[in-house]
Amino acid sequence: MTGQKKQRIGVGIIGFGTVGTGVVKILTNRAEEIRRRLGVPLELVRIADLDLKRDRGVAVKPGVLISKADELINDPDVDIVVELVGGYEPARTFILKAIEKGKCVVTANKALLAVHGEELYRAAQKAGMDLGFEASVGGGIPIIRAMKEGLAANKILSIYGIINGTANYILSKMTEEKRPFAEVLTEAQRLGYAEADPRFDVEGIDSAHKLAILVTLAFGTPVEIKSIYTEGITGVTPTDIEYAKEFGYRIKLLAIAKSNDDQIEVRVHPTMVPDEYLIATVNGIYNAIYVVGDAVGNTLFYGQGAGAMPTGSAVVSDVMEAGRNLLYDSVGCVPPTGFDPDQRELLRIKPMEEIRSFYYLRFMALDKPGVLSRISGVLGKYNISISSMIQKGRKIGEAVPVVMMTHKAVERDVQQALAEINRFPDVSEKTVLIRVEGEEEE
Ligand code: HSE
Repeated sequence: MTGQKKQRIGVGIIGFGTVGTGVVKILTNRAEEIRRRLGVPLELVRIADLDLKRDRGVAVKPGVLISKADELINDPDVDIVVELVGGYEPARTFILKAIEKGKCVVTANKALLAVHGEELYRAAQKAGMDLGFEASVGGGIPIIRAMKEGLAANKILSIYGIINGTANYILSKMTEEKRPFAEVLTEAQRLGYAEADPRFDVEGIDSAHKLAILVTLAFGTPVEIKSIYTEGITGVTPTDIEYAKEFGYRIKLLAIAKSNDDQIEVRVHPTMVPDEYLIATVNGIYNAIYVVGDAVGNTLFYGQGAGAMPTGSAVVSDVMEAGRNLLYDSVGCVPPTGFDPDQRELLRIKPMEEIRSFYYLRFMALDKPGVLSRISGVLGKYNISISSMIQKGRKIGEAVPVVMMTHKAVERDVQQALAEINRFPDVSEKTVLIRVEGEEEE
């Protein structure tokens, strides 16, 4: 250790919204516990927010709340800057300025890290400062630290994540209470789980952002967000949820990453998950990340993925880590991605059309002789083998659902087969396709 040990660690928070309020509550209510762990207190020196009036239901000392983020960043009493503004700018600039000023930074900003992470990781490494982002994925679940440190001995083989609480909440309510999509979305927004733009939640974009961060930590590779195949839950219907149940599955918005030799699969889409899988039982706002490592085997991380207090818990854990590093002159020891900056490699992301999966297909086909054999004929032509099928009801001359589960097939083949089948005059609607996880039967 060099120099005089600090007597306190000064914290500045930019953005006093839902998560900021949770952080302030924890820093206030747990002050004594935090002091016992660190040996010195964490002092909330400044909060910067444009809204100086709104009552957030938490008390802050007079003079702490200011409107100018720059004033906070330049304040010599602020050792750690917590960025909770969200979005790309001015959040990116605030973080870069804070690092330049020699401050440790903590952020919950998954969108920013997914898009500008490389620049921010590099800036923090170059300056030798900590950049903590535990709150960016999985809310209160300590998955970032687990990926960076706890599982560091492993080659990561696969990741299956339910990492958007809003989408999981909506799918759970649609499944359990048979309620419509729009009504449940409004409820999730009211409860403060949804993004400012809820399309990020329901179109899978937020999950893709979080998956990009996990992949960076798991495989030591940068990931371009546009290379992640992303499909949301807006097309999931109560009909398909009911059929999924009949086949023994739940529909979940899964973020999937798999290591495939020297390339990786990275994708986000609604997925049918067998009822007996632990991840199928993860409901409501809860998130879960199932990580398989070559040494550790299967692991599951579970907890609340959104909300002021769970996310605040993750933010404060990062603040405490940075505080400890400041106290013991070990700031910057663990690189932000957990990989030595010179050892990161750009891995190829397998194009979506090359992946292999099981598929659920729902055709709306006219109930008349020969239709089914024409559909299965096209599937056969593209090497798609049917494992089970349901056709309910008889309505001569009308369209009825014909539902098929396939053995493993190649995405390109399935897409080409469906393009042909959808052109049949006897097929009245675009065929529904949902990818299915499960055990290899071959
Ligand atoms: N909108 C996000 C979710 C918030 O629903 O999971 C937490 O990142």
